Amino acid sequence: MPMQPWFTDAKLGIFIHWGIYAVDGVQESWSFYDDIVPHDQYMSQLERFTGAEYDPKAWADLFARAGARYAVLTSRHHDGVALWDTRYGDLNLGRDYIGPYAEALREKGLKVGLYYSHSDWNHPDYASTRKPGRPPELEDNRYSEVAAEDEDLDAWERFLAYRDGQIRELASRYRPDLMWFDGEWDRSEEQWRIPELAALIRSEVPDVVFNARMLSEGDYATPEQGAPVVPPEGPWELCLTLNDSWGHQHHDHNHKSVDQLIRYFTETIGGGGNLLLSVGPREDGTIPREHVERLEGLGDWIARHAEAVYGTERGLPAGHHYGPSTLSKDRRTLYLILFDAPRAEINVRGLLGSVRRVTVLASGTELAHRITGGLHETPGVLWIEPPTGADLDPHATVLAVEFDGELELYRGAGRF
Ligand code: GLC
Repeated sequence: MPMQPWFTDAKLGIFIHWGIYAVDGVQESWSFYDDIVPHDQYMSQLERFTGAEYDPKAWADLFARAGARYAVLTSRHHDGVALWDTRYGDLNLGRDYIGPYAEALREKGLKVGLYYSHSDWNHPDYASTRKPGRPPELEDNRYSEVAAEDEDLDAWERFLAYRDGQIRELASRYRPDLMWFDGEWDRSEEQWRIPELAALIRSEVPDVVFNARMLSEGDYATPEQGAPVVPPEGPWELCLTLNDSWGHQHHDHNHKSVDQLIRYFTETIGGGGNLLLSVGPREDGTIPREHVERLEGLGDWIARHAEAVYGTERGLPAGHHYGPSTLSKDRRTLYLILFDAPRAEINVRGLLGSVRRVTVLASGTELAHRITGGLHETPGVLWIEPPTGADLDPHATVLAVEFDGELELYRGAGRF
């Protein structure tokens, strides 16, 4: 299926890891799986989770201010605790947190994403089988697999029926624009019955988008935490934490700065991807100040440079400009991102078309430009007068390079 244009045009999404793990501020699901927190203690957070200040309208307002066009909420993480009043399984918070979230996002014009973990380390029927060809060097974990001689395929069928029940509820009740799957590594495509799962969701929401952890049915690549050096070719999305944790962990103050976030963001969109930036609300539903400030800082920068962001396409490959760039849909305007205050003229190599005008995007100030060198089919170097003073953005300055026609790139090695 061709990618939904809303997704590639959106550029920024907000990832929300919210669950019982926020009560004690322990790692989501992994903390009991890895025996860092005793299982009883982890599960005792269920009684202490309040959601007392849950205000999805405030979330949606903040996400819109950040410049996001969609959000993805953990409807059910690997710990199996559902954020809606599901009829399936017996682990949920007794309240529907998803309906009001979906409604609040839609009121703000944001697309609705739901995260759902294929794996469920708390379901009684989950650890009933094992992945075929599981490498022998991997230790088995009691929450995810059983020894080959203990496999119980009836139990696995019951697990899939529970999973399908929950998925049908999510798809029909909230009609998500995006389903963001996770935890796929525990089983094979065949065990998950991926095509059937996709068909079930599409029977309710035909235009739904899937991330790559939906295996053969995935629509886009899902790199996690590390910015790809060579951007993937098709659509993709980098998911990234604001500090070092997905969920709320009280002790984690290692937040990325607004400057760093703008770098991650522009490098991602310059390579044709979206940034899915994660926030971890507290157990009561409030988003920590440190997260709010950073989202607003990124949003302010995006608002000043919206033209270079939304609806653009991946910019120049590495080697033409010392920084990221994006390209307008009509391919007639190239947006160059400058992270530092230039000391001298800015140079761009390999542009074949003629340049009509160069401006500072935020202020409209026109900058002089000239071309040196070039021979036969090899283009010269474009030199742009450096912006100064108020034309320099405190975080990253954007120059708009307008061509007479469409961008044409020279990728050769010169004449020899
Ligand atoms: C990993 C982790 C999970 C987190 C996810 C986000 O798959 O298992 O805790 O939710 O990454 O991408």
